[in-house]
Amino acid sequence: MRLDKLLANEGFGSRKEVKKLIKNGSVEVNGEKAKDVSTHVDPYESEVIVNGELIDYREFIYIMLNKPKGIVSATHDAKDRCVTDLLDPYYHKFHLFPVGRLDKDTEGLILLTNDGELAHQLTSPKKKVDKVYEATIKGRVSDHEVQAFENGVTLDDGYETKPASLYIEKVAGDFSWVQITIQEGKFHQIKRMFKAVNKEVRYLKRLKIGTLELDEALELGEYRELLDEELALLKE
Ligand code: URA
Repeated sequence: MRLDKLLANEGFGSRKEVKKLIKNGSVEVNGEKAKDVSTHVDPYESEVIVNGELIDYREFIYIMLNKPKGIVSATHDAKDRCVTDLLDPYYHKFHLFPVGRLDKDTEGLILLTNDGELAHQLTSPKKKVDKVYEATIKGRVSDHEVQAFENGVTLDDGYETKPASLYIEKVAGDFSWVQITIQEGKFHQIKRMFKAVNKEVRYLKRLKIGTLELDEALELGEYRELLDEELALLKE
């Protein structure tokens, strides 16, 4: 990789600004002052130092975040705080984005990455990746809804949902606690599925995306990078 590209990727400014840094002698490569912007560096092996700061090159980043209510799963928003605003400024240079979306009032697992290929693998309906949610429902959920979700329900826009599995954890009074697994990600899908069977989602939290499970040690708003084994499983 060219030195100017590496430094621009690392957040040292535009190619023009980076050129200036190199020309004024602020950049060292393997112990020598770099003179040329087109110097070839191995981003993983070369020792690149800018104004005394050692560059720790990383291409892809994978973060799991426990999204709280009130935060939108986007990278920019005119009025609301975004999931990327919860990250340490260190992560800003990686241009991370959320994989799939959760509604503003939904909590739970969000994967943030800059790996477009993995994001596609996890969100494309063709790949049939399970997304598991827990929900509190206003109304008494029964085998009737389990069967309806298994068969597919018709949403308010006429869309027929693909088979989804519903597991009833508890029903008490006029409320139900359920787990639901879907492989699609239509707008407000779970809320609209329950609406289609005359029930209402009062609380929704995503627990899993494929093999990736929300680390319950993460408080709302907290995050951590994926472990190597979590990433390896997710990519399988
Ligand atoms: N389904 C919804 O209705 N909302 C979400 O945030 C995710 C799935």
